[in-house]
Amino acid sequence: MRMRKKKNLVPRMAACGDLLVADPAEMRGRWLSHFNRPGRLLLEIGCGKGQFAVGTASRCPDDLLVAVEKTPDVLLLAMEKTRDAGLENLRFIGTDAATLGAAFAPGEVSRIYLNFSDPWPPKNRAKRRLTHPNFLRVYDVILAPGGEIRMKTDNRALFEFSLCQLTQFGYPLLDVSIDLHARQDADNVMTEYEQRFSAQGMPIYYLCAQKPAQGAPAS
Ligand SMILES: C[S@@+](CC[C@H](N)C(=O)[O-])C[C@H]1O[C@@H](n2cnc3c(N)ncnc32)[C@H](O)[C@@H]1O
Repeated sequence: MRMRKKKNLVPRMAACGDLLVADPAEMRGRWLSHFNRPGRLLLEIGCGKGQFAVGTASRCPDDLLVAVEKTPDVLLLAMEKTRDAGLENLRFIGTDAATLGAAFAPGEVSRIYLNFSDPWPPKNRAKRRLTHPNFLRVYDVILAPGGEIRMKTDNRALFEFSLCQLTQFGYPLLDVSIDLHARQDADNVMTEYEQRFSAQGMPIYYLCAQKPAQGAPAS
């Protein structure tokens, strides 16, 4: 996500600094108890400006949603949105998804959301895609058995790549749609990118893959 540098980034960040978990390794294994949530631990990776995170957290008050975003200027907007919404069950990590193994204990996470992840079209950039096996191996450690990866994208090539990678990894597909909005799914929380692409008449691709309840992944 390209964005002009935010003015006063540091003081604005400080003004909602309680929403940012500066040392996520400290929370490893105790996210739900620390934030006093009886439900599940959900993760959104690449939350952008936070519309999905805010919408999802407000619908699931028992759960804790941790949103991960590596670009500080975008992260700031997501944190300000969360502060304005007064949400207690949404927190942020400002790091790269590759480091998530240090932030979450094995099996601690119930669901991972990947919304409109950067497609990285050239083949030699495939390692940066958030469904590349290098990332799937990180997710596989922190996901609980039976945990889910839910992905939405406008990009057909990334979608096909992800379907192949997840299947080869040994994660069965519980749900696949090549036109999510045609379902008129009332439960769908739109992201900023989703709103933009769908207003242009583009189909939204969706998948839900599940970590097997038992057994090692295929690769
Ligand atoms: C195309 S934007 C989509 C934003 C939002 N999810 C939406 O749908 O509106 C992708 C976001 O993912 C973030 N991102 C990409 N790779 C990441 C990584 N490895 N770790 C954390 N964030 C990442 C980018 O900084 C960017 O904000």
